Amino acid sequence: MLLIKFGGSVISDKSSYLSFRADVVKKIVDTLPKSGFMVVHGAGSFGHILAHKYDIVGGYADWKKLGFARIQRDMEELNLRLLSMMIDADIPAVSMPPHSFLTLGKEMNFDIFDRLLNYGFVPLTYGDAVFHTEKGVDICSGDLLMLELARRYKPEKTIFLTNVDGIYTHPPGHPDARLIHEFPRDKEAHTELQTRDVTGGMGYKIEVMREIAKHSKVYVINGFHPERLKNVLNDEDFVGTVIV
Ligand SMILES: Nc1ncnc2c1ncn2[C@@H]1O[C@H](COP(=O)(O)OP(=O)(O)OP(=O)(O)O)[C@@H](O)[C@H]1O
Ligand SMILES: [Mg+2]
Repeated sequence: MLLIKFGGSVISDKSSYLSFRADVVKKIVDTLPKSGFMVVHGAGSFGHILAHKYDIVGGYADWKKLGFARIQRDMEELNLRLLSMMIDADIPAVSMPPHSFLTLGKEMNFDIFDRLLNYGFVPLTYGDAVFHTEKGVDICSGDLLMLELARRYKPEKTIFLTNVDGIYTHPPGHPDARLIHEFPRDKEAHTELQTRDVTGGMGYKIEVMREIAKHSKVYVINGFHPERLKNVLNDEDFVGTVIV
């Protein structure tokens, strides 16, 4: 079993509302096998911009209702585009919208995932606006879903596709930034909070990856270079980061 995240920063330009990178996604989908994996996708500009505007992580308030509804609508639209591309590539992908199967603060119900995997389908889920037992509403990040799914299904490989080459010693662009090929699980990395990323950006992702590395081999690679994904799938040398 493989678990792959299509980062929101890959499938969309996070600074421009509803921008979808169809050609990039198509190349990634064409690199994937036809079954034996699960996909989580991020939100990019289909989620982060409105999530920030309506302060969804701040919990429920009456004025946020339309924002909550719009984010779910926008995410379904993004998800449908990915779903269509996967099905058009003969991958039996089935969409699992988080707002319809999970409430944060409660244990996640994996029943349908179990069934999908037993029948050989490819579950496709994503970061979404969802209910929360205490706060009322919240954002469930794609990274959290990666953690939940990795804990449950213990994939051999867990791959994060993002818009940078891997984990750097400092935020990319910083003069001292160097790509780390083997990232020790207990190492500290300097990260910056991405202003448009309401779910913690690379800092939170590293926390999640440390945890997943207990169950799986974890990779961070650049989604704009699908040959690197192919290299990781084939156990070849690759440009990127592996958590060790
Ligand atoms: N030390 C670091 N190494 C690598 N990237 C870093 C680092 N610090 C900050 N970043 C930033 O983290 C970003 C990737 O995190 P981000 O949460 O945007 O990814 P994503 O998973 O693709 O998006 P989404 O959350 O929408 O799914 C990169 O664009 C990079 O600028
Ligand atoms: Mg993020």
